[in-house]
Amino acid sequence: MPESYNDKVLEYFRNPKNMGKMEDADGIGKVGNAVCGDVMHIYIKVKNNRIVDCKFATFGCVAAIATSSILTELAKNKTLEEALKITNKDVADQLGGLPQIKMHCSLLAEEGLRSAISDYRQRISQKK
Ligand code: FES
Repeated sequence: MPESYNDKVLEYFRNPKNMGKMEDADGIGKVGNAVCGDVMHIYIKVKNNRIVDCKFATFGCVAAIATSSILTELAKNKTLEEALKITNKDVADQLGGLPQIKMHCSLLAEEGLRSAISDYRQRISQKK
């Protein structure tokens, strides 16, 4: 387990992909960590049960921004069921690892995506 951020984490922090609010999102996940106060919003666009677009807005630490950014890439083109299987460990692994003390930050990414999917499902069930 590395003790500091690797280059990939820093790259995703400095040049995050898919950052910004999605105005016409089909589902929005809002999660936060009460201890550090960091907040993450995950936006998804869904077509035929598949995530066709995913963006994020995160107010948080380096790890929170890097994990939410890479999560949006992992989630894209996955079915909702596949996306629900993405764990915080998958996110951290995809970044080449996180320092142990920052692993909890990657949990926000996992929870944010789950929250966005459940928001989407709730909206769909209300339309029926
Ligand atoms: Fe709060 Fe990283 S320190 S999410």
